[in-house]
Amino acid sequence: MCGITGYIGKNNNAIKVVMDGLESLEYRGYDSAGIAFIENKNLNIIKEKGKIANLKENINFDIQSNLAIGHTRWATHGEPNKVNSHPHSSGKFTIVHNGIIENYLELKEELLNNGYEFQSSTDTEVAVAYINYLYEKDNNILSVLNKVNDIFRGSYAFGIICLDDLDNLYALRKTSPLIIAKGDNENYIASDVPAILKYTNKYILLDDFEIAKIDEDNITVYDKNLKEINKEVLEFEGSLESSMKGGYDHFMLKEIHEEPTVFKNTIDTYLDTDFKNIPDLSKYNKIHIVGCGSAYHAGLIGKYLIEKLANIPVLVDIASEYRYNKVFYDEKTLVILISQSGETADTLAVLRKVKEDNIDTLSIVNVVGSSIARESKYVMYTKAGCEIAVATTKAYLAQLTTLIILTMYLTNNKELIDEINNMPTLLEEMINIDYKNIALSIYENKDIFFIGRSIDYALCMEGSLKLKEISYINSSAYQAGELKHGTISLVEKDTPVISISTNESLLEKTISNTKEVKSRGAKVIFVTNNDIDGDFYDYKILVPKVSELLQPILTIVPLQILAYEVAKLNGCDIDKPRNLAKSVTVE
Ligand code: G6P
Repeated sequence: MCGITGYIGKNNNAIKVVMDGLESLEYRGYDSAGIAFIENKNLNIIKEKGKIANLKENINFDIQSNLAIGHTRWATHGEPNKVNSHPHSSGKFTIVHNGIIENYLELKEELLNNGYEFQSSTDTEVAVAYINYLYEKDNNILSVLNKVNDIFRGSYAFGIICLDDLDNLYALRKTSPLIIAKGDNENYIASDVPAILKYTNKYILLDDFEIAKIDEDNITVYDKNLKEINKEVLEFEGSLESSMKGGYDHFMLKEIHEEPTVFKNTIDTYLDTDFKNIPDLSKYNKIHIVGCGSAYHAGLIGKYLIEKLANIPVLVDIASEYRYNKVFYDEKTLVILISQSGETADTLAVLRKVKEDNIDTLSIVNVVGSSIARESKYVMYTKAGCEIAVATTKAYLAQLTTLIILTMYLTNNKELIDEINNMPTLLEEMINIDYKNIALSIYENKDIFFIGRSIDYALCMEGSLKLKEISYINSSAYQAGELKHGTISLVEKDTPVISISTNESLLEKTISNTKEVKSRGAKVIFVTNNDIDGDFYDYKILVPKVSELLQPILTIVPLQILAYEVAKLNGCDIDKPRNLAKSVTVE
């Protein structure tokens, strides 16, 4: 989703720092980019549609600047084009913005009545015009930004330059994340830590409604009463190195190869000879799990495991639905929020709604210090490290691992420790299988189906999502027994059907359903932990058989790699699929 970077200082060229930052945020997904910089007290703005490389071609890096802000835009209001891209200016102000100003039409009306004109269709141009409009009356930047906090509805992280004060860069946020990073004689703003890692690993997290005034030496943060507040300076543990490709063709492949370590690191955080770092959950008799995309799919796996093994009823829902649905919970309900980024707008909104109702929350989050992590009652971090590819793999696996640990904890099951110790080796084995032949046999198809029952169906949903998001092949997941109630009409000669069966008690049922598609000409890829042979499949992927709890960890790997190989054969932009964003900070 949209990315922000900004720089003020004398050690580096602001243009270069901001462009470096934008490049390291490319993975978040965007469709245009722009930069505003000050050269000899004059403002320059350059914007381009498409990749950052297009923007770079139009920038003269010999120009020296000490103050700049930059943005990668993922279109929300108005199509992705040059006019709609950020930065936007009005009068004395230039801003970059992440988020959505929900009452922008109302504000625009007021501005139009006061003689303002607009070029773009964006809420951001309205925001900057409104800031300028308030400044015309008040002439005090801090007090204007404080008023903005009362007037703007929705979500925002702003980087702001004011021509009347070129010694400072300003920032404020509500809901959309923003950090202020610290250097020597130079400071930075960014929407995400990787943007500044090339230069520093020290940063401050800006909280909702806080305003930052940043010069090259000082970062001053103000609260809602414009009182200066002390902020903790954090240090990012990972390195830029660790977020680089490390010899792999794509981040996605690199991240899949990290899965054995991620599994181990996540286990080690919560389990040695006994459970540790897990909150006391004994009072809860009902669980709701909420997330978006793959995080929701991880939640589905959690439901199967917790209900079956811990005997606790679990409701799983998609955050954008749950937040507007009627939900039934009480003081004995635990709401678990799952999120890699910890910033997904819908999941964050659920968290806030649930908290308002005084219901306890536990978040399973990857990004340390993210909004969801900070605002939940309890947090269990997944130890996936920095995930760059838009399509999540290792972070999803870490979410599954955390849910497995939770199930073990809820059932007080410590018997699996030996088996757990062997899992990284088994994961390696699954990763090292060559899936290219299977990919070659399906990559030209237009539709691909996944079928499975029970927990395998939840894996089908994730496998199908991986495939469609990076290869753009239409793909659906079905409960194996459901296909014949309609969708089987789409199965014709050579339609690929990926059939998953890892549950002994349902094996025969799933095989029967697989035979139904095979007899209609489907090309069947059978993924199983059962060494069964037959003429109902074209390819078989054999997954090592492990305890029911651990099985999904191994079964998901071939689905992730198959999606990767199919996308590669189709020449897709695997790490940055079209229209998608890594961290979805708008509703
Ligand atoms: C986006 C990403 C998905 C991710 C979902 C939830 O749609 O493209 O890969 O699963 O958001 O993100 P979160 O950061 O909350 O896990």
